[in-house]
Amino acid sequence: MDVTITREPKVAKADHLFVLIAEGTKPDVAIAAKAMQAIAAAGFTGRAEETLTTVAGEPKKITLVGIGKEEALTIRCLRTAIYTIAKMAKKQRDRNIIVVLPYALPKLGPGGTTRVAADALAASDYKYDVYITKKDDKSLPISASFVPPPGVDAKHAKQLDDEARAIAAGIRTVRDLGNAPGNLATPTYIGQRAEEVAKQAGIKCTVYGRREIEKMKMGGLLAVNRGSAEEPRFIVLEYSPHKAKKHVALVGKGITFDSGGISIKPADKMEEMKFDMCGAAAVLGTIQAAAMLALPVRVTGIIASTDNLPSGSAYKPGDIITTMSGKTVEIINTDAEGRMILSDALHYASELKPDHILDYATLTGACVVALASEAAGLFSNNDELAQKLIECGERVGERLWRLPEWDDYKDLIRSEWADMKNSGGRWGGATTAAVFLKEFVNCPSWAHLDIAGTAYAEHETVREARGATGAGVRVTIAFLESLSRS
Ligand code: BES
Ligand code: MN
Ligand code: ZN
Repeated sequence: MDVTITREPKVAKADHLFVLIAEGTKPDVAIAAKAMQAIAAAGFTGRAEETLTTVAGEPKKITLVGIGKEEALTIRCLRTAIYTIAKMAKKQRDRNIIVVLPYALPKLGPGGTTRVAADALAASDYKYDVYITKKDDKSLPISASFVPPPGVDAKHAKQLDDEARAIAAGIRTVRDLGNAPGNLATPTYIGQRAEEVAKQAGIKCTVYGRREIEKMKMGGLLAVNRGSAEEPRFIVLEYSPHKAKKHVALVGKGITFDSGGISIKPADKMEEMKFDMCGAAAVLGTIQAAAMLALPVRVTGIIASTDNLPSGSAYKPGDIITTMSGKTVEIINTDAEGRMILSDALHYASELKPDHILDYATLTGACVVALASEAAGLFSNNDELAQKLIECGERVGERLWRLPEWDDYKDLIRSEWADMKNSGGRWGGATTAAVFLKEFVNCPSWAHLDIAGTAYAEHETVREARGATGAGVRVTIAFLESLSRS
């Protein structure tokens, strides 16, 4: 949805006006004052998920959408209401809508609330329909004017509009790439998309192919790629504004399809493993948004990409692999491939000596067992960084929950034949994966985000469509913004 944040929406041009109403409140919304009276007379109370439409006003349709108690208002409530609005507008074939939010969340303030609501609105009617050959008019584009809560003046609205657009564009990149099927989104394709996005955002992009990856001795990436008919790619994106004081490296897992390899996965839900490149997509979408926002922070995006398939030449359990760092790994399970490709990417990132390294990966089923889709797992060697990321996540509605990466867990990945093994077994699976990654990090401020549970929705929910969610972009942009302020 194309969203414009404005205090002065064009009411006459709109098909449908939506006003979010908290339970038992009568906010002063001039453009819908009469309708609100009529609707209140009909017994509308503002309970969460309650909606009521009147069809006699201007514009023709005015709908009040309940969001529950004002004091209990959360980002989740807002997202639910906004998703409801998008579904109504789509079904009713509205093309031009206005959405009025008369409240701000106390913790976020009017500006923060506007950002959250506007980017939820921008994402609310998204559908990946590239391969739908018969499109109906429900998929026609919708334009929305978003009227922010009191306390946002016209100038602030314009600034928030630019910000929300940048974030929405980044999220869109992540979702399109994440939802793309594995036969389209190959490592080569991810490289091409990265080049396109980089060109449009005015940043540098270098895509390395097999020969160069061999020259760099990226043994982890090459091992996983051995079973594949597709060439691997190692992609480096560079956004380097002049005034930057800090340098952040973002590292993404780009497994375009994870069959498990020789340690093959069961067939049930295997198709979901096309989403195993969502970490890579998050890196691309975030650096795109950072460049569009012209944030004064240097950002390097690093993506390792291949698929993971079984074949006669595939890597196999028992193999010992020498990674780019020189450290050796005994393969226990070829399905623990994410950490193999990240070992090289994290080593590469460490050599750049950035101030912070953040990595994004749909890394373990164990993380999904622990947190489902409510939070991403956060692992860090730096308490200050971890705390900051958690706070940024709270502000933008992208929860992170910290889990340990203590060295004590290293026992679980000790190998008889090599420096370590690539699997520590079932117990503490998300942590042993993080502890493995840490072996390749040489940076005092590193965080690993296991987004296996948050990167894509298995089913549609009251807040979100099925498929890639854009996980990682919002929290990382908030973090980069916090660096540019300090
Ligand atoms: N891509 C998977 C992790 C995953 C699982 C993501 C479910 C999203 C949903 C990863 O490569 C994997 O297979 N991990 C294994 C590791 C194990 C073999 C040590 C896992 O979690 O089972
Ligand atoms: Mn796997
Ligand atoms: Zn995987």
